[in-house]
Amino acid sequence: MDNLEFKEEYNLSKEEIVELLKSDGKKLFEIADKVRKHYVGDAVHLRGLIEFSNICKRNCLYCGIRALNDKVERYRLSEDDILDFAEHGMELGYKTIVLQSGEDDFFSRDKMCRIIEKIKKFDIALTLSIGERSYDDYKAFKNAGADRYLIRIETTDKDLYKKLHPNASFENRVECLYNLKELGYETGTGSLVGLPGQSVDSLADDILFFKKIDADMIGIGPLIPHPQTPLKGELKPANFDMALKVMAITRLMLKNINIPATTAMETINPNGRIIALQSGANVVMPNITQGKYKLKYEIYPNKASSDMDSLTYHNNIINKIKSIGRYVSLDKGFRNNSLI
Ligand code: 5AD
Repeated sequence: MDNLEFKEEYNLSKEEIVELLKSDGKKLFEIADKVRKHYVGDAVHLRGLIEFSNICKRNCLYCGIRALNDKVERYRLSEDDILDFAEHGMELGYKTIVLQSGEDDFFSRDKMCRIIEKIKKFDIALTLSIGERSYDDYKAFKNAGADRYLIRIETTDKDLYKKLHPNASFENRVECLYNLKELGYETGTGSLVGLPGQSVDSLADDILFFKKIDADMIGIGPLIPHPQTPLKGELKPANFDMALKVMAITRLMLKNINIPATTAMETINPNGRIIALQSGANVVMPNITQGKYKLKYEIYPNKASSDMDSLTYHNNIINKIKSIGRYVSLDKGFRNNSLI
């Protein structure tokens, strides 16, 4: 697709997507940047991420906090700590707080609702990223005030999904996404790039899936092998470029959605976040978990800036955003539906 050019609408076929994924990406990144500017402008939305529990009942083969990893020191934040961190985020100027954790049943429906209600007393948008829960849980969280929910599909290749997620169901994960949409959440999903056995074809299917469910947010990241997981030997530097291409094509296909420059991109490439922001992304999700907990939420090793204090880290990110002529958004950054 040497002839790729800026358009207001792209309905790329699977073949065209595969061709773009096989290209060097140069033209694609340039055009995705234009589409980003046209539909969501130069604002960058910051989301303050609080990782409130690294206890997880799942055993996803790639993930460092999988239940079977007995080398992780497990923690759960108290409700008071979660609220303190959220308040600190507000003081730094965040308009969205993201609560993320492993799949930890300790945080029951009632506990989560209580936390959500307390955070929502502030004038702030709230995103949850706590995995697969029942329809009724999702409904209760929504009624308590949650605005958005993130749950990556990880891969739409069903056989691969099965291999990577013991005792889990692809169908249930898809159902979670439809339930969240039906309940009126802004719904985010996304995928990992560089999984063993993942083909360019299946990455194209992932993008078509994002389009089909009309996701409001898409997070794409390269696989970063964790030494205490079965995928420890799978590091492929080319995954950065491939993840960037998946992200850029997603921008073409879903034009006005929110797309983060993911921490995984920054971890695998020292300039990854800026490169992503110039190739279709418009969101950054700085970690605002404080103190000793931050290092323990190790889904993959050397997570970018996980050893910096949140103020230094925050200022670094803002300076980087300004250095490329972009600015930090002052609003809550819901999906921009004004230009569709
Ligand atoms: N490398 C990159 N991303 C990972 N995630 C989990 N483990 C890894 C890894 N080793 C991602 C998953 C999950 C998100 C919170 O982190 O896609 O949805």
